Amino acid sequence: MRHFRRDTTLGATTQTVRMHGKEKQRRIESIWKWNQQRACNNLFMVTDFQRYKRLLRYAKPYRGRLIAGMVMLALVSLIEPVITIAFSQILDRAFVPEVSAAVASQGAPAPAQATSIPMQSALSQSALFAGLSGWLRTMPIMWFPFLLVLIFALRGAANFLGDLALHWVSSRVVFDLRRITFAHLLRLPVSFFDRNAAAELTSKITFDTQQIGAVTSQALTTLVQDSLKLVVALVMMAAISWKLTLGVFVIAPVVAVVVRLLTRRLRAASIAMQSQMGELSRFTDEGLSNQRSIKIYGAFAQISNAFAERANRVRRTIMKQETANAASAPLMHLVVSVAIAGIVALAIGEGQRGAMTAGDFFIFFTALLSLLPPLKSLSAINSVLQRGLAAAASLFAVIDEPAEVASVANAQPKLSGAVKFQSVTARYAGREADALVDVSFEIAAGRHVAFVGASGSGKSTAIALLAGFYQPQSGEIFVDGELLKRIGLQTLRDNISLVAQDVLLVNDSVATNIAFGSSGGKVDQSRVQWAAQAAGAATFIDTLPGGYAARVGEGGSLLSGGQRQRISIARALYKGAPFVLFDEATSALDSESERLVQDALQRLMVGRTSIVIAHRLSTVERADRIVTLEGGRVVEQGSHAQLLAAGGLYARLHGLQFRSPT
Ligand SMILES: Nc1ncnc2c1ncn2[C@@H]1O[C@H](COP(=O)(O)OP(=O)(O)OP(=O)(O)O)[C@@H](O)[C@H]1O
Ligand SMILES: [Mg+2]
Repeated sequence: MRHFRRDTTLGATTQTVRMHGKEKQRRIESIWKWNQQRACNNLFMVTDFQRYKRLLRYAKPYRGRLIAGMVMLALVSLIEPVITIAFSQILDRAFVPEVSAAVASQGAPAPAQATSIPMQSALSQSALFAGLSGWLRTMPIMWFPFLLVLIFALRGAANFLGDLALHWVSSRVVFDLRRITFAHLLRLPVSFFDRNAAAELTSKITFDTQQIGAVTSQALTTLVQDSLKLVVALVMMAAISWKLTLGVFVIAPVVAVVVRLLTRRLRAASIAMQSQMGELSRFTDEGLSNQRSIKIYGAFAQISNAFAERANRVRRTIMKQETANAASAPLMHLVVSVAIAGIVALAIGEGQRGAMTAGDFFIFFTALLSLLPPLKSLSAINSVLQRGLAAAASLFAVIDEPAEVASVANAQPKLSGAVKFQSVTARYAGREADALVDVSFEIAAGRHVAFVGASGSGKSTAIALLAGFYQPQSGEIFVDGELLKRIGLQTLRDNISLVAQDVLLVNDSVATNIAFGSSGGKVDQSRVQWAAQAAGAATFIDTLPGGYAARVGEGGSLLSGGQRQRISIARALYKGAPFVLFDEATSALDSESERLVQDALQRLMVGRTSIVIAHRLSTVERADRIVTLEGGRVVEQGSHAQLLAAGGLYARLHGLQFRSPT
């Protein structure tokens, strides 16, 4: 429908074809840019460390909480040994008679009687833990259950506060990064969005920031808490028996190597599994989409057999994987049990020698087992860090993009809108041809210019240059006799109302859309109604559920094209800027809506300087000057009568339009 209608207008080419080309170009360019960036990063050696330092800058304002949180988490790791030691004393004092007797008779432990079981644990003799053990020993054993609850409560509170503080900081960092990045994105030049797909930018703001948050909280937690846990456990083990600890250090690497070998085999199976699964689904897909040919040519058996073969391959791989899986747990247990047996044998020797109590034995093994979780998370921390740093790199690339130059000191606040293009040539990045070539035209304040020309001839480009969305490669644009670049984008845009080719509305109420951006989001209801009236939008707005409060849907999807355009005109009227740019609003409309939009446009143009791109000649005829573009060049300009008389491109287009029913 759209394309049919477009064929009856001056600009007769399908837009979709161009869009696809653009999209592809954009992708290629973004990949190219990514490679460039990587090359650049390598060149200038932006190291992980530098990136991490830069990331930490975002956490800096919250360093108080950050440090408090880390202290809390450190406390958790330090409380842990108290619990273990308490348990060991319970063992020694309540369940091993000799020791309890010695404690009961006060003072130094009595010498061993018949056996050589020591009265005092190795841990309590070590310099580091003597104080703590001594203090605990003065406590009646019946207090211990309460003590345990108290310690756990303390540990829980510290853990809670620490977690809370770190997550608070990370949520702040994520929030700040999102805010900063989004605000910065809005300030980036239009050309940036030509190069970068919106979906990618969205994922940077939603996903990448999340990853960065994980680095600040998770990585820090792990670094502080788990490394401390590891150290504490090792120190405790060493305090009990350095011989046993040494034994662990000898055996552990062997266990690690065996475990790694086992998991590698598993991983290999799962990779094969993935590719075979892909092949199976590809084949299924192909078979089902070819079902007509299969029916006609009777290829049932052939295809079914081929399918069965692939399905069976998947089954066999699954079995391999499951066999490895099933075998791995018992195998691992076996390996670990051998390792533990070795350590237990050593421990028994120590016990027999009288160098260890039952409590020591208990602590040693508890500490040994407690090494595993922190080891695991510490070995995973690198991947968390790498992911976070990769996300940071991708986000920083956006933050480092230079924003548009916003304002210039000598700006005059009010423009009347006299425009002069002087030999303007413009080319889009990554394009081989110029979009505008040596374009010159002039228009006095309060006058109306119309651009005419086939699709792709550069009409929208001229308007985009005027709005400061792009900079020309050569030539100059003057507004009110002043160079455009010296006026400053802010001033320029304050004076422009733009009704774009593809009207996009924000997913909010009609009134908010009409008052968009003006006076910081405050809506002047009576002005909104006046603008809607003048734009010929009031009638349909009144029929909407909720009237001016009705929501317009995403991009304005709940409204028709013509309604959207009239809202957009109402927005321009509401803004009341002296300078109107109107891009081809009539292309997709039926005659009735077109007339409504035309009328609205006429009212908008009164007393304002305007540049109008219109494919329908009724608008064009009334313009003070018509500029006809072809392939980015101005081929002719003048009034309607002059151009008709000249018998050039305009006359030909005009003739075409009169023949076709519109
Ligand atoms: N953002 C862009 N990036 C790269 N090339 C672009 C971009 N926008 C337009 N072009 C190219 O510049 C040329 C002029 O495009 P322009 O949008 O100005 O045409 P137009 O006259 O407005 O066409 P239409 O009537 O279809 O709106 C075209 O060849 C187009 O492919
Ligand atoms: Mg256009």
